[in-house]
Amino acid sequence: MDQPTEETLDPQDWQAMRVLGHRMVDDMLTYLQTVRERPVWQPVPDQVKEDLRKPLPIDPQSPEDAYHDFVENVLPYPLGNIHPRFWGWVMGNGTPFGALAEMLAATMNPNLGGGNHVANHVELQVLDWCKQMLGMPLSASGLLVSGGSMANLVGLTVARNSRAGFDIRRQGLPAAPKRLVLYGSVEMHSSIEKAVELLGLGREALRMIPTNERFQIDLAALEKTIAADRTAGAQPFCLIGNAGTVNTGAIDPLNDLADLARREKLWFHIDGAFGALGAVSPELRPLLTGLERADSIAFDLHKWMYMPFEVGCVLVRDPEAHRLAFTLTPEYLAHFERGAASGSHWFNEYGPQLTRGFRALKVWLSIKEHGIAKYGRIIKQNVDQCRYLTRLIEASPDLELLAPTSLNIVCFRFKTAGGAEAALNHLNEQILMELHVQGIAVPTYTTLNGKFAIRVANTNHRSRREDFEVLVREVIRLGKALSASAQA
Ligand SMILES: Cc1ncc(COP(=O)(O)O)c(C=O)c1O
Repeated sequence: MDQPTEETLDPQDWQAMRVLGHRMVDDMLTYLQTVRERPVWQPVPDQVKEDLRKPLPIDPQSPEDAYHDFVENVLPYPLGNIHPRFWGWVMGNGTPFGALAEMLAATMNPNLGGGNHVANHVELQVLDWCKQMLGMPLSASGLLVSGGSMANLVGLTVARNSRAGFDIRRQGLPAAPKRLVLYGSVEMHSSIEKAVELLGLGREALRMIPTNERFQIDLAALEKTIAADRTAGAQPFCLIGNAGTVNTGAIDPLNDLADLARREKLWFHIDGAFGALGAVSPELRPLLTGLERADSIAFDLHKWMYMPFEVGCVLVRDPEAHRLAFTLTPEYLAHFERGAASGSHWFNEYGPQLTRGFRALKVWLSIKEHGIAKYGRIIKQNVDQCRYLTRLIEASPDLELLAPTSLNIVCFRFKTAGGAEAALNHLNEQILMELHVQGIAVPTYTTLNGKFAIRVANTNHRSRREDFEVLVREVIRLGKALSASAQA
């Protein structure tokens, strides 16, 4: 009888794949080593966009040709976040060893949803390290997730489910005797709003409390709103603190919020997407006092721990509340006594995902590579660089600081004598776009009190002080040139 032809996706020529793999590693290390020499950003050429709209390939291409296509058409046009002068939104850079770790993780390709295998222990180890970094008890539970958005969603899900006062997983929100409401400042990140929407609470359930002149939550207004809600028959269940707001890096008074949450019997969730990592620096730790009192903390290792995307983390003080929010064990996921389906800790019981990748490996290897003390030093270095940039801005008659520099975010603008606000906003938008288009630097933007701000969020381990000097010099040069051409 004829044997059927059986195929595999493994290479037919392992030696050729080995040679290509070595070349790829060499090319990528050179790419990282020389990143400073390239523009921070450049547009994707039309030709490349066109080439990226080809029909589905039916027939194979050699891996060498496919890789060539990547080198020619993909590699030269990044967003720029690995560059030393990228300070846009809040992003990290990744590291060479982190990139290699991704290759190792993809090679082992384990599934951390469940089962009895070593990768789960690596994630548990990493989670214990995260608890130590932020001062959470080792008895807390945790989960590595795609990023801060998912970490907020998981934390707020546990908050909702454990504080609803009825079986919300079974009965759903329609069974709620009272409207569930939660609190945070107007400076909260949009991912919190999205999480509240996804949880079916409705965005109006999220009470947006005003802030003071340092962009921290107004405690008096917060207390008043909670009292008014109780009087109106709502059920407050959660208080959200910011450890580093996205706009300005402001840190809410976390200890006061923890006290209030205890008094009011509210779940205390902290969004510390980047700011929580300030706790890794002994000098910055005091700014975050109260962090360790959270019921849940969301933070990102791909921001201020510089790990390759994606990796965020949520820690939950009460492991049982965490598990009860997500556990669901059908027959086909039952745990056995022995073998691959045994093991006591299955991560799918702690979050919405079943299949989960080995993001823990890059964290484990990176922390081993550098040791936590060095992370603390570089995080502090980023804050010092922002203080330096702030001094440069304050010393320049052409620039204006638009918010106090609390941590690692600096908001400022170019100003002209007697410039009307609308004109200044327009001018600064133009400056920002020129910085990008000319490949000089990528800060981004926000609006503070109606003023368009050029916003530098420094979670960049490659930046040096001279990079901030370049930024200041170029903003002034562009500001003057654009104002002159507007007047001509
Ligand atoms: C304060 C804050 N929370 C949450 C997030 C969302 O994190 P991610 O982009 O990793 O989903 C961000 C992102 O910048 C953030 O700054």
